[in-house]
Amino acid sequence: MKLTIAVLVGSLRKDSFNAKLADALAALAPDDVAFPRLRIDDLPLYNQDDDQAPPAAAKRLKQAIREADGVLFVTPEYNRSVPGVLKNAIDHASRPYGDSAFAGKPAGVIGVSIGAIGTACAQQHLRTVLAYLDMPTLGQPEAYLKADDVLDGDRIAEGSREFLQTWMDAYLDWVRKHV
Ligand code: FNR
Repeated sequence: MKLTIAVLVGSLRKDSFNAKLADALAALAPDDVAFPRLRIDDLPLYNQDDDQAPPAAAKRLKQAIREADGVLFVTPEYNRSVPGVLKNAIDHASRPYGDSAFAGKPAGVIGVSIGAIGTACAQQHLRTVLAYLDMPTLGQPEAYLKADDVLDGDRIAEGSREFLQTWMDAYLDWVRKHV
């Protein structure tokens, strides 16, 4: 079954571990699943005054989410929460009120950090946001990942491959249940 999963990466950093993880995860899926990574770096700060005439970058983001079967969030943890760039993107795509692009889209949440708790706090905060946005979000398996363990350069480290394959299989099953 062909699927399109929109990917939102919560880091703008050129050598982002989360961007590498997002690419590596996409490679674990069957060929008929597309993982377009959505740009969020050109979004202005969300301003409710612009709701009736949203910026072009926000319209583009919402359109891409609407066209997707699911949304995969791959995010670092900043100060025990979600990075502002990701929250800004979520705010844009959820507005104006009643016109959210997210409603009903099956979500996956995963992230990698250099810290021992592997983005657990950020993921919990994000899950609260996604619940409000009415996104059914995969609950298990959880994936709290540490960069040293999970990545070997741009690739998934051998010792983490099986677990991440299990995670990806579970997420794609979750999406198929909801499309
Ligand atoms: C961090 N980092 C971090 N790590 C963590 O495990 N918990 C945290 O609360 C924070 N807080 C935090 C705040 C800010 C502003 C920065 C820049 C970084 C470290 C973070 O895990 C590390 O920079 C990762 O490499 C970020 O992910 P990317 O950019 O590699 O995808």
